[in-house]
Formats: sequence, structure tokens, C-alpha cells
Amino acid sequence: MGTDKPEPMVATNCTECHGDTRMHASYFAVPFNPDICKSCHDYEKQLAGKTGWKDSNWGFGAGPLARRVHGVHFGRYLDKPAEVQPTVDYSHVIFPQDVRNCTKCHADNPAWKEEPSRLACLACHDSDEAQAHGELMTFDLTPADPYGGDEVETCEVCRGADAAFAPDVVHNISNPYKPPYPREPQKDE
Ligand code: HEC
Ligand code: HEC
Ligand code: HEC
Ligand code: HEC
Repeated sequence: MGTDKPEPMVATNCTECHGDTRMHASYFAVPFNPDICKSCHDYEKQLAGKTGWKDSNWGFGAGPLARRVHGVHFGRYLDKPAEVQPTVDYSHVIFPQDVRNCTKCHADNPAWKEEPSRLACLACHDSDEAQAHGELMTFDLTPADPYGGDEVETCEVCRGADAAFAPDVVHNISNPYKPPYPREPQKDE
């Protein structure tokens, strides 16, 4: 606001696949525009004392957008798909291309490779090991409330802009070529 040039959106291109489909069609009919999603799926904790993705989105009123959208599109491969949204099952979803093409959605803004966070990264990397890693690398005076807002994450030490293990380095699939992860549905599907 108040600048000549609008800040580029963190994620975009949704409508290349989703067309003019509407989210929450029955009550709000939201176009697939992340800035509009964030009017509800924001990053402010609103509900004190809630501690779990399964029943409360850790106290966020509506699940934070980065976590929600990453989890949805990687649903097929998650260890804990019910944490994306407890009542809606996304465990069948296979992104129609290698999801490591991060720039499919992150085309205009470098935040995806410069601002790693537990919310964004652990959405896809939801194994016990990855979650423990996120916890260990976060300084938190109130560990019982791990998303309370007073945490200091240290992801950027190793994974910030131009760091040795930055997001664009670890998800680079073309140089050197890295074969895709298995992308077929299971036999019983
Ligand atoms: C390369 C194609 C592609 C792009 C780009 C894409 N999506 Fe998706 N999205 C899909 C597919 C495929 C599904 C699974 C649809 C299904 O199984 O019903 C999906 C599902 C979803 C769902 C769950 C839909 C529901 O009915 O609950 C949401 C929400 C979503 N996408 C949001 C987004 C947002 C936001 C963006 C942009 C930041 C985006 N998508 C970009 C392909 C894409
Ligand atoms: C008017 C507020 C509002 C807007 C705008 C909104 N949502 Fe939601 N959304 C909610 C609430 C409330 C829930 C239920 C609580 C939760 O799961 O986070 C929800 C749930 C969801 C779910 C879980 C599945 C479902 O259907 O309940 C997905 C996926 C989702 N939202 C994605 C999006 C995306 C993507 C956008 C933008 C295109 C969006 N939402 C815009 C309020 C909103
Ligand atoms: C289907 C679309 C989609 C894909 C593919 C995707 N992201 Fe995202 N990503 C999002 C959305 C939506 C957000 C939240 C945008 C917002 O808050 O405005 C987000 C946010 C982020 C953020 C947080 C940025 C910030 O400002 O704090 C990071 C980091 C990130 N993504 C990394 C990645 C990485 C790494 C990949 C590839 C492995 C990836 N994303 C692939 C949709 C996507
Ligand atoms: C949209 C899903 C998605 C997001 C978001 C995402 N990743 Fe990944 N990541 C993958 C996939 C898929 C792979 C390759 C298969 C695997 O190792 O699980 C991968 C691989 C990795 C690897 C292993 C690379 C190697 O060479 O062995 C690391 C490390 C990694 N990601 C870190 C991160 C970090 C840090 C973030 C946040 C900035 C992040 N990821 C966000 C999907 C994602």
C-alpha cells in the first residue's frame, strides 16, 4: 500500500490449472487468488490455548495459506495427510508435474527461496524426523505453544538466500538432473 509498484505476490499462477473454479463455492466463491485467500488464511494466531494441527490449526483461525496449499498439492506423499485439514482428505492429490518446480507457483517473488520456515517447509516435509529438525532449529521459550509467535527460527542459516542448502539448490531437478519421485497412484486407487 502507498507504493508506486505493487509488491509481487508470493505465489501466483493458480488459475493456469484452476481456471475460474471457485474455492468455498457454497458460501464465498473465492477466486484462486492467494491474496484473497489470506484475508482468512493469514499468519496471525487468533485462538489462544489451541495446540494441534488436527483440531485447531495450532490456534490460527483458518489454516495458514502456505501450509495449506503446499500440503494439498503434496497430499499423496504426506506422512500425516490429516494435518492438512482434518475433515477433508487430500491424500489422493498428485500435483500434475514435479512439485519441485517451485516456480510453477512462485513465479514472481523470490520469497520462496529466501524465507524458509516451519510453516512453509514442514507442510510437505511432515515426517517425524523433519518435524523434529524444525523444532530443534527453533528457539522457543514456550515449547508447549510452538506457533505462539515468540519463536525464533534459524532456517536461514543453512537455507537462506544463496546459502549452501537454499531451497532452490535442494529442489533443483535439472542441474544435475534428478529423476522424479514416484508419481503414480497406488494400485488400489
Ligand atoms: C500445475 C497445476 C496446479 C497449479 C499451478 C495449482 N494447482 Fe491447486 N490443485 C491442482 C490439482 C491437480 C489439485 C487436485 C484436484 C482434485 O484432486 O480434486 C489441486 C487442488 C487444490 C486445492 C484443493 C481444492 C479443493 O477443492 O479443496 C486448493 C485449495 C488448491 N489446489 C489451491 C491452489 C492455489 C492457491 C494455487 C496457486 C498458488 C494452486 N492451487 C496452483 C493443480 C494445480
Ligand atoms: C472468508 C474466509 C475464507 C477465504 C477468503 C478462504 N477461506 Fe479457505 N477456509 C476458511 C475456513 C474458515 C476454513 C475451515 C477452517 C480451516 O480448515 O482452516 C477453510 C478451509 C479451507 C480448506 C480446507 C478444505 C475445505 O474445503 O474446508 C482449504 C483447502 C482452503 N480453505 C483453501 C482456501 C483457498 C486456496 C482460498 C483462496 C482461493 C481460501 N481457502 C479462501 C475460510 C476462508
Ligand atoms: C501449488 C502452488 C505451490 C507450489 C508448487 C509451491 N508453493 Fe510455496 N507457497 C505457495 C503458497 C500459496 C504460499 C503462500 C503464499 C502467501 O502467503 O502469499 C507459499 C509460500 C511459500 C513459502 C513462504 C514464503 C514467505 O513469504 O514466507 C516458501 C518458503 C515456499 N512457499 C517454498 C516453496 C518451495 C521450496 C516449493 C517447491 C519445493 C514450493 N514452495 C512450491 C504455493 C506453492
Ligand atoms: C510443495 C512441496 C515441498 C515444499 C513446500 C518443500 N519441499 Fe523440499 N522436497 C520436496 C520433494 C518432492 C523433494 C524430493 C523428494 C524427497 O526428498 O522427499 C524435496 C527434497 C528436499 C530436500 C532433499 C534434497 C536432496 O537432495 O536430498 C531438502 C533438504 C528439502 N527438500 C528441503 C526443503 C526446505 C528447506 C523447504 C522450505 C524452504 C522445502 N524443502 C519445501 C517437496 C517440497
